[in-house]
Amino acid sequence: MKSSLLILLLLLSHLTPITRADPLYQICQNLGNYTTNSTYQSNLNLLLHTLSSNGPITGFLTDTEGSSPNQVFGRALCRGDTIQSNCASCLSNAVQDVVQLCPHQMSAIIWYDDCQLRYSNATFFSKWEGDL
Ligand SMILES: *[C@@H]1O[C@H](CO)[C@@H](O)[C@H](O)[C@H]1NC(C)=O
Ligand SMILES: *[C@@H]1O[C@H](CO)[C@@H](O)[C@H](O)[C@H]1NC(C)=O
Ligand SMILES: *[C@@H]1O[C@H](CO)[C@@H](O)[C@H](O)[C@H]1NC(C)=O
Repeated sequence: MKSSLLILLLLLSHLTPITRADPLYQICQNLGNYTTNSTYQSNLNLLLHTLSSNGPITGFLTDTEGSSPNQVFGRALCRGDTIQSNCASCLSNAVQDVVQLCPHQMSAIIWYDDCQLRYSNATFFSKWEGDL
């Protein structure tokens, strides 16, 4: 009896991970596709790693990797009232999710309750947030 309850709890905990927030939505901008093992992909991986491991310290963090035509621009944002540890875990989910939800996309944006992640081969840093 006890062990079947334990199994049930284990099953439930696998079905409903508590700490893993799902994206609210994402935009795969469909500007173009990069190929597997391309320079663009390795620059993107570097960028996503930087954005998720350094985290925004003051609201947002931008990073640029590589040089034209394989240059990648990226920005990580956390909501103002998000505590640092939630910001970090949100961004760590974001970098994993974005490459699965927008596979091979040159440019994409993903939103969560706590954070937003965007990357592109074209700079967008000076543009207003709503201007995609
Ligand atoms: C990128 O690849 C996806 C999936 O194969 C395809 O649907 C899309 O049209 C491609 N986009 C461009 C701009 O070529
Ligand atoms: C990408 O690189 C890896 C490691 O070098 C290799 O195993 C894989 O076959 C490559 N894939 C493509 C599609 O070139
Ligand atoms: C971004 O990539 C797309 C698709 O390859 C290309 O049409 C566009 O010119 C690139 N933009 C920049 C700024 O390199």
